[in-house]
Amino acid sequence: MRTKILGTGSNLPEKILTNEDLEKIVNTSDEWIKTRTGIKERRIVDKDIPSSELALPAAKRALENADLSPEDIDAIIVATVTPDMSFPSTGCLIQHKLGCGRIPAFDISAGCTGFIYGLILADSLILSGLHKHVLVIAVEELTKIINWEDRTTCVLFGDGAGAAVVGMSDDENKGIIGKHWAGDGKVADYLTLPAGGSLQPTSAETVEKNLHTINMLGNETFKTAVRAMEEASLKGLKNAGLEIDDLDWLIPHQANIRIIQFTAKRLKMPMDRVIVTLDKYGNTSASSVPIAFDEALRSGKIKPGNEVLLVAFGAGFTWGSIILRF
Ligand code: ACO
Repeated sequence: MRTKILGTGSNLPEKILTNEDLEKIVNTSDEWIKTRTGIKERRIVDKDIPSSELALPAAKRALENADLSPEDIDAIIVATVTPDMSFPSTGCLIQHKLGCGRIPAFDISAGCTGFIYGLILADSLILSGLHKHVLVIAVEELTKIINWEDRTTCVLFGDGAGAAVVGMSDDENKGIIGKHWAGDGKVADYLTLPAGGSLQPTSAETVEKNLHTINMLGNETFKTAVRAMEEASLKGLKNAGLEIDDLDWLIPHQANIRIIQFTAKRLKMPMDRVIVTLDKYGNTSASSVPIAFDEALRSGKIKPGNEVLLVAFGAGFTWGSIILRF
């Protein structure tokens, strides 16, 4: 018995912020951003559009692609570090906006690994017999939690949403054939949004110190990311009983082109079999893998019989992978 992806969807804000635009905001250059990160531009959501609204078209497209209606969904998992509010969950807000039944809906916090964590949870919920169709959504509005005076972080991130419907596979050879997830809070300090929680409730002082924005040790994050991406890929492949050579496509978390190139090199995967959307969208955290995945499916790159590896790392630290056969 296996589960599979029944449909996918994504949604990106229309407004584009280019590297040239950023040159006017902080002391940076298009050349630095392109060579050190691979990013050329990113999408910026309007101030009055919360994550639940940005996610809605992605969720609707995934349902349409799966040929299902909102009433067919019996659980919603939302991966996000930028929920509309701390509570209620963005999952519940989307459940209502989509017009689903009175189903369980909740958020998970796994940083950029959120979509992979969500797929693994959905797979387990379905294989246990508890649910039939689980909607997994990743949505991020990172441009709302950036310090626009910090050139080391503000050039990296963008906004976007991706979604997938998971259900039973009618062919035991196709669907989710391997998975791996892991985490390690020992290095939690590398990547945080320090204030606004119970540790440092929001105050005039936390706002003044910009503790309600992304704080990141870039170099440490980089090194941890490369190791985590390799480990997640190899353990996922082992779980699927596959070798790297079997893979047709690698869809990695889109944080930095150099992390993607290192990962591909360590896995001996040629870059022409790696899906890259980073240049257009920057790092959209949990949404980056489902957006790249949806674009690869809709453009026809992924063909029947293909084996595809989705892999990510993120705040926590967390890391994980999913192997799919189409
Ligand atoms: N423009 C111009 N110069 C810059 C910029 C910028 N935007 N940012 C940093 N610099 C400067 C630094 O100040 C430094 O100058 P100095 O040598 O005079 O001190 C120099 O460039 C080199 O800085 P490094 O930090 O060593 O640059 P590096 O090549 O490591 O790139 C980067 C920095 C892009 C942040 C990289 O470390 C990285 O990608 N790290 C991983 C980030 C990541 O993956 N985050 C994932 C988040 S996941 C999630 O869950 C949200």
